Amino acid sequence: MGERLVEVTGLRIGYRTFEGYTKVLNGVNYHVNKGEKVGIVGETGCGKTTTVKALLRILVRQARVTGGEIVFDGKNVLTMGKAELSRLRGTGISMIFQDPMLALNPVFTVGNQMGAVIRYSGEQGVEKKEVRTELAVRALRETALPDPERILQSYPFQLSGGMRQRICIAMAMATPRKLVIADEPTTNLDVTIQDQVLKILKSRVEEKQSSLILITHSLGVARETVDRIYVMYAGSMVESARTADLFKRQLHPYSQALMSCIPKLSGGGVAEGIPGRIPGYLNPPLGCRFAPRCSRAMEKCRREQPLPVTVEEGHSAACFLYGEGS
Ligand SMILES: Nc1ncnc2c1ncn2[C@@H]1O[C@H](COP(=O)(O)OP(=O)(O)O)[C@@H](O)[C@H]1O
Ligand SMILES: [Mg+2]
Repeated sequence: MGERLVEVTGLRIGYRTFEGYTKVLNGVNYHVNKGEKVGIVGETGCGKTTTVKALLRILVRQARVTGGEIVFDGKNVLTMGKAELSRLRGTGISMIFQDPMLALNPVFTVGNQMGAVIRYSGEQGVEKKEVRTELAVRALRETALPDPERILQSYPFQLSGGMRQRICIAMAMATPRKLVIADEPTTNLDVTIQDQVLKILKSRVEEKQSSLILITHSLGVARETVDRIYVMYAGSMVESARTADLFKRQLHPYSQALMSCIPKLSGGGVAEGIPGRIPGYLNPPLGCRFAPRCSRAMEKCRREQPLPVTVEEGHSAACFLYGEGS
């Protein structure tokens, strides 16, 4: 077993809204080892972004952490002070967002923005402009962007979507990070460049020996990129397995449904969606939150929340179909 970099246990987060308090994260458990690439896969609205924003402590003010623990590199993230937080964001973790146009400021050149991020890292020599430029040029070159010097002079709108997202990857990795979080990094890109951007992300993370959390709603995207996958549903991890094991056998009925949604290139079948939708978070179901959509739900599922059970080595599911009494 590798050395732990991230360990999150029992995380509960909700939001204060006009309608009332929403209970979104319902006891989230996951971990990431050093050098490991982990995927979090689930439908829109299941709490993926909330989960990783908590790790960086960048949740909106309306959010409340009501339970659980977040440990990053041996330190408790939830009790960090200002100085520790800025170290966490400057050298510990970097994040690549879904929309590169929102992540980049339209009124500054790429060079300006990369320079600011590099300076914030506090790495040796970054107070000098030449050092910052050199690091930025190298990072752009490493993400296969042509003519880095010209790109540094450009404004975001002068570049294509794929280039902008590669710039965000370069920016996230211009200085060493222990963990890179990529939140749906290819969702807004053309299918033809999605693959290219994922390959660059993967190889950059591997070369730098960083860990990766890749968030995606697509099992197919995760399969290409990560070593291990968490399947998330309505505020908790319902299954976790090494990528190959999950594709061989899905334990949780939600994972099975998600798998049947992957469009098949051969065989001609049309992918079916999963009937029903994610429950509301104001008054979520008492027991298993998937029970209302689950064809195998039992009486117990509507009363109690199932805890994760290890079914095979390295493969667990939070479902009453497994474990004692099943
Ligand atoms: N800024 C916010 N204010 C209020 N509720 C929010 C906010 N962000 C997220 N939520 C709630 O949390 C749920 C999960 O959101 P999110 O973590 O963004 O999921 P995902 O990334 O999986 O799509 C949303 O459906 C919504 O109910
Ligand atoms: Mg999201």
